[in-house]
Amino acid sequence: MSHRIAVGLFGFVVILSGLFFWTLVPFSQGAEDGATKTSLDKAFPQATKCKRCHERAYEEWEASPLSRSIHSPAFRASLHEYLTFSSGQDKARCFRCHAPHINEFPEQAETFVTQAQSGDPALDGVGCAQCHLIQHVDRTKQPPVPKYVTGKTLFGPYKDFVHNLAHQSMDLDLFRKTDLCLNCHLAVPTAANLGNKNDLLGSWAASASVKSGKQCQTCHMPEQVGESANGEKKRTIANHSFPGRLGKLRQEAAKLDVATQVKGAQTTVTVTLRNLVPHNLPTTHPGWASVMLDLTIKGKNLKTVFNDQRVYGRTYADAKGTPTVFDFKAVKVVSDTVLKPDETRIETFTFPTPKDTRSFDVEVSLNYAPVTGPPAFLQRIEAESTKGAQDPVFQPIPIVSSVENIPLR
Ligand code: HEC
Ligand code: HEC
Ligand code: HEC
Ligand code: HEC
Ligand code: HEC
Repeated sequence: MSHRIAVGLFGFVVILSGLFFWTLVPFSQGAEDGATKTSLDKAFPQATKCKRCHERAYEEWEASPLSRSIHSPAFRASLHEYLTFSSGQDKARCFRCHAPHINEFPEQAETFVTQAQSGDPALDGVGCAQCHLIQHVDRTKQPPVPKYVTGKTLFGPYKDFVHNLAHQSMDLDLFRKTDLCLNCHLAVPTAANLGNKNDLLGSWAASASVKSGKQCQTCHMPEQVGESANGEKKRTIANHSFPGRLGKLRQEAAKLDVATQVKGAQTTVTVTLRNLVPHNLPTTHPGWASVMLDLTIKGKNLKTVFNDQRVYGRTYADAKGTPTVFDFKAVKVVSDTVLKPDETRIETFTFPTPKDTRSFDVEVSLNYAPVTGPPAFLQRIEAESTKGAQDPVFQPIPIVSSVENIPLR
């Protein structure tokens, strides 16, 4: 039973350090000035503190975009764009969702900016505590406002939680509900109030899947069975890798049906595109977010003889009427081709029937498009990224595709 003893000892050490970090140190709520980062860390313990006991949740979260919400080169480059645009006013704006503990420490906005700009922030963005200290989300406000209660109690989904000495637990229905997510995923600030012209999710509440009782968590934090904390007995847990653009979930985003009609010298391809997602595809923040439908026709020797695209997204104009990819500058939505919840879109492409060949290939793909924007902005992302021009934001992300060979007589 030496294994048991080792676990016991480990647990003891863990509990002691847990007590040390959380119980013996008073939670100051940032009252004392000057005690900048330390009081922040006390109120919002770093995710690494949770890893000791919640290794599985930690590793899933670490691999998710949420763990990098103030780390990505695209975020840093657009933060720079924002700060230039706002001439240093309301520095906290981007962090309200990307590092929401700023809401409790508004006087430390400068620290958040410097940390994010460093490229290797010692602060978490959307870490564990940034969700698990939310006690309530006020949906009467637009956008919804989270109420944080910083203290020893962590809120979560379990009524029958096992007690532990590092923190107290309390179950809240909120954790099984969409409301928790809407607080950051419903709308983003723009330069003029665009109301529901710039909602991220669209008429989500009316979608078939919401009516059938699905919450954001159903798809984006899928249920599994495992350890809720190291060494605890297995039970129902929620995946913390937040699949979205990354992960298998995206194959469930849309369905493509492709029909090709050869009429002598002209050929028409009709693509029926069905959005299977109960919200907009794509969600439209950052402003350049878009999904692209690409049609490629390959004729003799698989040479491309025709290529065309359709883009689904929003285009914005700033106060001068100039098109912009930066939603924080937007005073107007110029066009909106976003695929709405459960929408079916039909696209037709007509082109000359390929010549000198017995057949041709029709390739259709749906992808998240790479970042777009002014050259200086793109160069900045490249310069900020350790991968340079190979940074993942410059690559399309495939969603679904179809290839068919069409014989010719
Ligand atoms: C405190 C704000 C906040 C809350 C609350 C929040 N998110 Fe997010 N979420 C973000 C931010 C910021 C990102 C972008 C991270 C990045 O890529 O920089 C994000 C990214 C995501 C992604 C990845 C999107 C992609 O493009 O792949 C998914 C999925 C997601 N969140 C789902 C959820 C779900 C489900 C909930 C509720 C359980 C939730 N989020 C709650 C702020 C939040
Ligand atoms: C209301 C909440 C909210 C605010 C405010 C907000 N964001 Fe975001 N941001 C999100 C969410 C949620 C995502 C993930 C969206 C998705 O993947 O669909 C995101 C994603 C991003 C991304 C792409 C992921 C990445 O990290 O590269 C960038 C860049 C970004 N935001 C920049 C900004 C900037 C700059 C500001 C301030 C002008 C800002 N955001 C303000 C919620 C917000
Ligand atoms: C974007 C918000 C968000 C973030 C960030 C987040 N969680 Fe959660 N967590 C949730 C929600 C929502 C649930 C409940 C999901 C459900 O039951 O449907 C949950 C459930 C849990 C549970 C209960 C067991 C389980 O896995 O379901 C634990 C423990 C937990 N989280 C720990 C963590 C830790 C540790 C981190 C950081 C590494 C973290 N969480 C980050 C939202 C979040
Ligand atoms: C000393 C070990 C330890 C540390 C450190 C620890 N936890 Fe826990 N936590 C546990 C145990 C044990 C449970 C009970 C799990 C169960 O009931 O299945 C738990 C439960 C939870 C729950 C579920 C509560 C509920 O009622 O649903 C959440 C959420 C949670 N922890 C988040 C965190 C976060 C966030 C951190 C870091 C800030 C953290 N924990 C640090 C041991 C720890
Ligand atoms: C029925 C399942 C389902 C539900 C419920 C659901 N989503 Fe999604 N969501 C998806 C699928 C599938 C995708 C596409 C995956 C991909 O390609 O990114 C997606 C993509 C996303 C993305 C990233 C893609 C983008 O366009 O930026 C975010 C962010 C997101 N969902 C947030 C949410 C939020 C917030 C909720 C709750 C209001 C929610 N989702 C509810 C299935 C669902």
